[in-house]
This record gives sequence, C-alpha cells and structure tokens, in this order.
Amino acid sequence: MTNVAVIGSQWGDEGKGKVVDWLSERAHVVVRFQGGHNAGHTLVIDGVTYKLSLLPSGIVRPNKLSIIGNGVVIDPYALLSEIESVSKLGVIVTPENLRIAENAPLILPVHRKVDQMAEAIRGKGKIGTTGRGIGPAYEDKVARRAVRVCDLADPDLLREKIENLLVYNNALLQAAGAPPMNVDEILTPLLEVAPKILSFSTPVWLLLDKLKREGKRILFEGAQGIMLDVDHGTYPYVTSSNTLAGTATIGSGIGMGGIGYVLGITKAYTTRVGSGPFPTELTDAIGAKIGKIGNEFGTVTGRPRRCGWFDAVLVRQAVKICGITGIALTKLDILDGFETIKICVGYKHKGVLYDYLPASMKIQAEVEPIYEEMSGWSESTQGKRSWVDLPAQAIKYIRRIEELIECQVALLSTSPKREDTILVRDPFAD
Ligand code: IMP
Repeated sequence: MTNVAVIGSQWGDEGKGKVVDWLSERAHVVVRFQGGHNAGHTLVIDGVTYKLSLLPSGIVRPNKLSIIGNGVVIDPYALLSEIESVSKLGVIVTPENLRIAENAPLILPVHRKVDQMAEAIRGKGKIGTTGRGIGPAYEDKVARRAVRVCDLADPDLLREKIENLLVYNNALLQAAGAPPMNVDEILTPLLEVAPKILSFSTPVWLLLDKLKREGKRILFEGAQGIMLDVDHGTYPYVTSSNTLAGTATIGSGIGMGGIGYVLGITKAYTTRVGSGPFPTELTDAIGAKIGKIGNEFGTVTGRPRRCGWFDAVLVRQAVKICGITGIALTKLDILDGFETIKICVGYKHKGVLYDYLPASMKIQAEVEPIYEEMSGWSESTQGKRSWVDLPAQAIKYIRRIEELIECQVALLSTSPKREDTILVRDPFAD
C-alpha cells in the first residue's frame, strides 16, 4: 500500500479530475498541493457535471477528507463561491471534509489586477494566463510579503500585511497607469469572509503526519501539467508553480518518502491553452476536428484549446523529470475513426536532431516534429471497460506510445464517465 501523486504529463487538461475522482474511491484523503483556481477539473458522476477549480476532486465523494495544502494559492472568494456552487449540486462542504493549510498564501483582488495588467503590457509576448492572479500571488509569496490564511485571525496584523503588500503592488499598477487600491477596499470584505475561511484552517503537515501514521491512503492531486512547470516547462510560457510530483511534499508538508507512486495523466493526443511553443500543433482541419470531437475548451476560461498529435518526446521527458511510475491514458476515443494517426518521435532544428525538447525558447518555438504514421481504427473505443474489447489497431497505438515514452499504461479512460475506466495496474497496490 502506498500513497499516490497524480499529475498531468502534458500542458494540463489531460483529464486529471476524472482519474482522481476514480482513484479517490480507493483513497481516504485527497490533497491539492500547487496551483490555484487556474485549474479546471471536470467530473461527470451519474449524469451530473461538477466543475472544480480549487476544491480537491475528492470533495464530491462522501466520507473522504479533502485538503488544500500550503503550496496552493487560495483566493478566498473563489473558494467560497465554489463551495456554494457545489452545495447547489448536493455536495456539502464543512470542516469535517475540507481542511486548508494555515500557511497557504492568499490571492487578493490586487493580484488579479496586476496579473491582467502584466498581460496587457506583454502585448504580443503575452503568456495567456488565466488572469486570476496566480503569478502575482506566487511572486508575493517568494518575495515574503504574502498574506496567509493564518493572518486572517488577527485584524491588526492583517491590515499591516495588506499595507505592506500594496506598497509594492500599487507601485506596479500606478506605473502602468492603473488606479491604486486602498487598504480598506481589500481589508473590509476580507474580514467578512475570514471566520468562514478560518473554520477550515489547520496545520496540514501535522494532520498529514497523523493520517500517514494511521495508515490512511493519501492521493495527491496535481494541477496543470509538467510542460507548464516553472522550471521544467516551456518557460516563460508556463504557470508560476512547480507542477512536478515532487512538489507534493513541499506543497503539503508530507515529507520525502510519503509518496510511492506517480501516475501521469496523459491524453492520447496533445492540447494546450494560452500562448507558447507547441511542436505538434495542428492548425488545419484535423486539429479543428480533434478540438470539436474532444470538446477542447478551457474549463476555467472557456478558451478553445490548441490541438495536435501525440508528442512522445515531450511525454517521455515528463516521465523522466517527474519520475512517473505509470500513465493513465485518456480520451483515446477522440481518435476513433481517423484513417491515419501520427506520433511525434523526435524534433529537427536547423539540421540538428533532438530526442528531447531543449530549454531555449527560440529553439522550442522553431523545432519541427518528426512523425511516425500509423493506421487508425474505425471501431469505437468509447465507453469500453475491458482491454479485450479494444480494436487491435488501438492496442497497437497504445503499445507504441508505451514503448516511446518508456512507461506503461496503468489506467485507460474511455469516456468522461467514472465507470468507463480500464484498470491495468492499481497504483495504490504497487
Ligand atoms: P496562469 O497559471 O494563470 O498564470 O497561466 C499561465 C499559463 O498556464 C497559461 O498558458 C494558462 O493557459 C496555463 N494554465 C494555467 N492553468 C491551467 C490549467 O489548469 N490547464 C491548462 N493550462 C493552464
């Protein structure tokens, strides 16, 4: 028995929500450890669609504990509004089933303003952020001026910390010609929601230690994907947190050795939202077809996702950087009916061949994919619940992917529904 971390092995939107929900049946606790409400996790359960951003996906299951770790940046208003919207679908969130880290930094309204202002200034070079203040909140954390959950308990300290935060952020806003914010504009509404937020607050590291000693199975739910990691992704077109599985220890306080299995959620093709390099992007009718069949629109912003063929080079890189033990392959059914399917097996740049994506943003933008082509399959894979029901050609595609990425499939997801999942190897049993 081991604890499992689930992370995205591409640019996010691989279908983590469904897999985490599916795995959470076997877990006692689900922990978010990085990112914020830039994430969008869609769960479809008994015909009801739940769209989660900040709440761990375990929240929709009764008798599971959900935890938001210190590595997450928490917008208190977004959290409360998400709690309210899931409650309308019958999910009751109380301190019994949700705990948040007392040392987690907050996203405040000024962060959203700075995020949107920074994007406007970047012009053509914009990152395409979700505009939710994620980057500026992480910047303030590292700059040691963040307001944290525990600060909500002390109004005087809170005022002082907001004043300090505004010295820096107002200077940025004013330099860009935007109006500054005043302390009370932030403090007054914050004090109103403080008791509710504080009711969930706890030393998460201590709680996790207790749960670990009790032998509870813990599932760590990553957000975004490895190629959006601030160190290892397609920098600077990345998010502002580390999205690797290793972040689960820092972002929750579980300690090294607390995680034994890393499950990399991997889409059978590739998508990306926002700007940045995407070697296998298809800007033609095939890309549009994948996007349409795959319903590739951002859960958070509704933006259409860019679509392309499966990039085995990138996923292999993610497997190695992140120490992925096995993958969950999702959305294979979207490729049903394609006459031929391509897989990227390498890159070419100015006569040089690469079997990895180099760090230079210029090279990343200019590499040309080298493809291997396979015949597709005409039969449907949608909703299949057993390996033997899969078309032979689809199995061939999966086997080739496994070979190229040097990692095996542990789970196969054949539709957004919870039950349409083929288990090859149980991550918790490894
Ligand atoms: P930020 O995280 O809002 O700063 O956005 C930085 C980049 O990460 C942008 O390209 C976003 O589109 C991307 N991004 C952030 N969160 C997600 C996600 O959950 N799925 C996919 N892309 C994301």
